[in-house]
Amino acid sequence: MKILVTGGAGYIGSHTCIELIAAGHDVVVVDNLCNASEEALKRVGAICGQDIDFIEADIRDFNALDEVFSNHAVDAVIHFAGLKAVGESTRIPLAYYDNNVNGSRVLLSVMEKHKVNTLVFSSSATVYGDPASVPIREDFPLSATNPYGQTKLVVEQMCRETVAANPDLSIVLLRYFNPVGAHASGQIGEDPKGIPNNLMPFIAQVAVGKREYLSVFGDDYNTPDGTGVRDYIHVVDLAQGHVAAIEKSHGKAGCHTYNLGTGQGYSVLDMVKAFAQASGKEIPYKIVARRPGDIGQCYADPTLAKENLNWAAKKSLQEMVEDTWRWQSNNPQGYSS
Ligand code: NAD
Ligand code: UFG
Repeated sequence: MKILVTGGAGYIGSHTCIELIAAGHDVVVVDNLCNASEEALKRVGAICGQDIDFIEADIRDFNALDEVFSNHAVDAVIHFAGLKAVGESTRIPLAYYDNNVNGSRVLLSVMEKHKVNTLVFSSSATVYGDPASVPIREDFPLSATNPYGQTKLVVEQMCRETVAANPDLSIVLLRYFNPVGAHASGQIGEDPKGIPNNLMPFIAQVAVGKREYLSVFGDDYNTPDGTGVRDYIHVVDLAQGHVAAIEKSHGKAGCHTYNLGTGQGYSVLDMVKAFAQASGKEIPYKIVARRPGDIGQCYADPTLAKENLNWAAKKSLQEMVEDTWRWQSNNPQGYSS
């Protein structure tokens, strides 16, 4: 299949391009580079032994997307493009609605015009809000505590309604838990701009000496060691989940939702310990107050994806931290190293 990957220069998108090509698909990437570097795609090309077809464009630009679909015989779309920082979304909510909701609306319109009927969308476990229990199943109640999460809920709903109106359409909503890790080559990985919001890149920057210590946000949660528990999933497993989703859904109409997680929760201190072991570096940390909006624990019931997509995460916590460390130590300044 020829697959258009929006946001394909980003963290998850770049890893997914590699897995798509390895599975025999052709890839064309659209990205406006607002949170990515073209260097990532050059490295993806080097890893795959072929140049990546790349168009620098904004998904909100109908005419630009229209041209991409006119020039490429696209069979299916994987849609990563969007803004993803929870804190930022509370400061500039309109930018989040414009990018994430309006961008997805424009993409769906152009797909409709060109009769491209298969879409995989990046949703998030954030749509479960503060779950009443764990592990979390896809039929749990949905809610959002910030504008970012709200944009994911709105796009999910827009997808369900568009499928209801068009019986030829096939959309898969993938709710990711906590993506971490990097390609085993150490050539591509997560390259956050400024101070990382997320735990794993923050720990990695402490290990490489860019930051003095980790602030652990709270040790009074109702969890085994009191720190927050999450379902960390290796980005390569996640990327393979997209290949499974697009291959299973192409040509089969309907809207389906899957958790992509491992089903295993680890605490903040578990992650610190595993990273220190893999890197041989001390990770100094200080316990500080809870981060507003954080929840105690969040991990997936991944059964549905196993049953329907024949996909399950395979990589261990050790591989997640080792691969992150290889990427971070080879590229202390990310893609600008
Ligand atoms: P990322 O920022 O690395 O990738 C997103 C890419 O989209 C970037 O390359 C960016 O330049 C591009 N982009 C943003 N707005 C665009 C626009 N209007 N037009 C064209 N390109 C645009 O983020 P990621 O971690 O790879 O996340 C990919 C998707 O997965 C996002 O939709 C995100 O919300 C979702 N998600 C991520 C996580 C996570 O923790 N990383 C968790 C759940 C869901
Ligand atoms: N944490 C720290 N210190 C830090 C950063 C994080 O202690 O410097 C803790 C958090 O309190 C939490 C855990 O590490 O307990 C994980 O935090 P992350 O910020 O890495 O991830 P979250 O689970 O809070 O959020 C992530 C994404 C969201 C997404 C959500 C669910 O950032 O966009 O997963 O998919 F919505």
